[in-house]
Amino acid sequence: MSSGSSPKVVVAADAAAFAEMAARRLVDRVTQKDRAAICLTGGSSPQDLYRLLGEEPWRAEVPWDRVHWFMGDDRFVPEHDPLSNMGMARRLFLDRVRPPRQNIHPIPTDANDPETAARRYEEDLKSFHAAQRLDPSRPLFDLVLMGLGSDGHTASLFPNSPALDDKAHWVVGVAKAGMEPFVPRVTLTFPALASTREMLFLVEGSGKRSIFSRVMSGEDLPAHRAYSNGDLIWLVDRAAAPGQ
Ligand code: 6PG
Repeated sequence: MSSGSSPKVVVAADAAAFAEMAARRLVDRVTQKDRAAICLTGGSSPQDLYRLLGEEPWRAEVPWDRVHWFMGDDRFVPEHDPLSNMGMARRLFLDRVRPPRQNIHPIPTDANDPETAARRYEEDLKSFHAAQRLDPSRPLFDLVLMGLGSDGHTASLFPNSPALDDKAHWVVGVAKAGMEPFVPRVTLTFPALASTREMLFLVEGSGKRSIFSRVMSGEDLPAHRAYSNGDLIWLVDRAAAPGQ
């Protein structure tokens, strides 16, 4: 939240409403454009949303041929590994719907090392965006989904990591994760994540209540540093929302 638009908090009554509200926001974003780009997130919080996207009635609402799917961060493991974020998204909806292959943009975790994967993914993003530089008036993404870790991390941007201050790259390798699973990661940087019409944080469950309060109170945590050139929405369920 260091710059960009001010955050808006939206509270969902329960887990079902939480996933439905996220699905509605996603569908609204993808139906506004001839070609839309969504940046997905890992973790457990988006899983109900991903399931909805693979099932009716939501499935029919997505113009699959016109939507491209990226990942904001991934664990440096093969896609068939249960830890893989893209593997999870494929199992929950992409493999069920089977959009055109070229519309799915996994982080290439088959590269030799996380930094090489980061360089390749940055090229993929630049080629998709047909630009070498990010321009706040021409967002890369239509929607960026974000999670909140219990230590305040988001994507694979962990507290005290040099990646937090990287303004030169769109994507970086993270040799050491700050939280489990302790596998190297590849993550988009704040400027790349901010290049969106909407950034949507998904925060679910009572286990997130304390860290969500800390982020909202302005503590210098990675999730607090995240910003958006477009809208910045925090979708939280009642269990995670303080005072609910
Ligand atoms: C990852 C994630 C990460 C996640 C948070 C929240 O690869 O681990 O992308 O940033 O979003 O850790 O995860 P949960 O939703 O599981 O709490």
